[in-house]
Amino acid sequence: MEGVLISKFFVTSPIYYVNDIPHIGHAYTTIIVDTLARFHRLKGDCVFCLTGTDEHGQKIEQSAHKKGQEPKVYVDMIAKRFKDLWDTFGISYDSFIRTTDSTHLQSAQYVFAQMFEKGDIYKGEYEGNYCISCESFFAKSQLVGERGCPDCGKETTLLKEESYFFKLSAYEKKLLEFYDAHPDFILPKSRRNEVINFVKAGLEDLSITRTTFEWGIKLPQILIDKDKNNAKHVMYVWLDALINYVSALGFHNDLPNKMEFWPANYHIVGKDILRFHAIYWPAFLMSLELPLPRHIAAHGWWTKDGAKMSKSIGNVVNPKEVVDAYGLDSFRYFVLREVPFGQDGDYSQNALIERINSDLGNDLGNLLNRLLGMSAKYFNNTLSVDEVCFKESYTEEIAEVNAILGTLESYMDEVQINRYLEELWKLFSLGNGIIAKKEPWSLMKANQSGAVAELLVFIANVLLRAALYLSPCMPSTANAIASVFGLEVNAQNFATFIVQNQFLTTITLNPIPALFPRIDEKRMEEAGVAVKAESQHKEQWQPLEIPNAISKEDFSKMDIRIGTILSAEILPKSEKLLKLQVDLGEVRARQILAGIKTYYNPQELVGMQVCVLANLKPAKLMGEVSEGMILAAKDGTGLALIAPQKQKINGSQIS
Ligand code: MSP
Repeated sequence: MEGVLISKFFVTSPIYYVNDIPHIGHAYTTIIVDTLARFHRLKGDCVFCLTGTDEHGQKIEQSAHKKGQEPKVYVDMIAKRFKDLWDTFGISYDSFIRTTDSTHLQSAQYVFAQMFEKGDIYKGEYEGNYCISCESFFAKSQLVGERGCPDCGKETTLLKEESYFFKLSAYEKKLLEFYDAHPDFILPKSRRNEVINFVKAGLEDLSITRTTFEWGIKLPQILIDKDKNNAKHVMYVWLDALINYVSALGFHNDLPNKMEFWPANYHIVGKDILRFHAIYWPAFLMSLELPLPRHIAAHGWWTKDGAKMSKSIGNVVNPKEVVDAYGLDSFRYFVLREVPFGQDGDYSQNALIERINSDLGNDLGNLLNRLLGMSAKYFNNTLSVDEVCFKESYTEEIAEVNAILGTLESYMDEVQINRYLEELWKLFSLGNGIIAKKEPWSLMKANQSGAVAELLVFIANVLLRAALYLSPCMPSTANAIASVFGLEVNAQNFATFIVQNQFLTTITLNPIPALFPRIDEKRMEEAGVAVKAESQHKEQWQPLEIPNAISKEDFSKMDIRIGTILSAEILPKSEKLLKLQVDLGEVRARQILAGIKTYYNPQELVGMQVCVLANLKPAKLMGEVSEGMILAAKDGTGLALIAPQKQKINGSQIS
């Protein structure tokens, strides 16, 4: 297309660990990525959409061994599950990368050699804590209690081994300058400070090789040739994984070179892996002298009934089951619309049904049904109006539609897809509202069929525009709506009806069945799926005998809060008690006596966050006042204070 500037657009999902089956969290990330890719294809951009699987590391090696399989056999099986699921969901990826691809290995080894050459990698010894579940290193000061991982709470392992290090600390200043110059690098912007503060607190060099297991990418041959000892090192899984974003583009490997797509427009990630993408990855890229991605957009987490999803609790939402029960587009709409981007959201079947019945059925489905119903009844499915008169009659309404459409692109750019949909939905309110206002049935009675034809043509044009903009989020629904007007959703029609703002004025409508029939209990029972899914749960569920059960009201009488221990001292007269000053975010600190002397040294307590029963009546012990109770758990191995899994503001209430 001569004279037309085609933009390149590169969007990526994280590559998924293959130690688990895909769940709603994975589906959420992938659907966001797919939505962005589709939006840009619609605009006529040249898009490269990347997803894949992260297949190395100790966690995966362990999962394979638990199943009694060789890692490669195991990862082949699980990677296929991800790929199959995305194919069933119609995810429009252009490449599915696996970190066990030989081309990825070529790029990873090139990157390592390049950074080494540059002087950014040196050999040392790593001593510290490693969380296998998060594949992450932590300083002692970051741990929760003795060994707890600050991200997932699982116990970390103490490591001491020879390791290569990446000079992350050398990039501290450059990173801060970059964040400063690119205020929208991290999305949503509310997450920016979290990253900046982390960097400002000081970056330690990053251990980037491991020697105690084998399932990873070996160092480049030139380093092994230099020193045979290097053969025992494998690359740290996060270095290996992040490189996928360029290895998929053929960066120094045998794939066709597509580096013209670099830098990525968006890396879509969950909030838990923002640090890796917004700190480590940019530093690696700086070392490689490659441009940095334009945006790292971090979404929140899906929970089920307020709890983190986990296999052991058995509350993992399987996206395939939801899609089988309610349809792919309804599921896509729900996850994209229900939670503001960046915030956590709770998955509930009721909320999903409510969205389907209300937004999809009442607003969207109803408008289309009314158009189809009236066009058939009054005009035998063929509408025709004079363009000039029509535009004159609907000047205001057309301006209103254009104003709504004009807001959409910036929401998509900020990955605020919930706001995008919210805004788009104003078109359906506008359409339904104008039908109610104009009462076409009365106009027909008054022999004003011309006015009714104009109204229906207006509604048709609104629905066509809505379908085009809806297509990135709900591709099949959008196509179904467009098919009513004998059209397809594609870049050409986007250019015609959105960019050039052309109108259909002679329309033959092709009726389609109702898009979102109401979901009621009867229909659910007929469909069997959703009800079954819930009742299966019920059948397995046996009420437990709970001794001394209390009500929620009883619990709410307890005011339990987070506090930070400011000081701790021994009470000379007491064998058990320590005297603590605890900051609960009040005007002054509380003095609390705790019977923990046998288990903790006063020094190690200072700075620790704990849970405090704050409305316990003050009491005097050994002549000293105690204004609360610190919560702890005790078993045969000793006592441990209860700490929040992540740092919380002092005074935060526990519920
Ligand atoms: N392998 C790394 C990513 C490497 S990218 C270079 C990884 N994999 S993961 O499978 O554990 O997670 C992949 C993505 O799924 C992350 O963005 C994570 O935030 C997301 N989710 C996993 N569970 C989730 C929820 N319950 N809710 C929403 N998303 C969550 O991390």
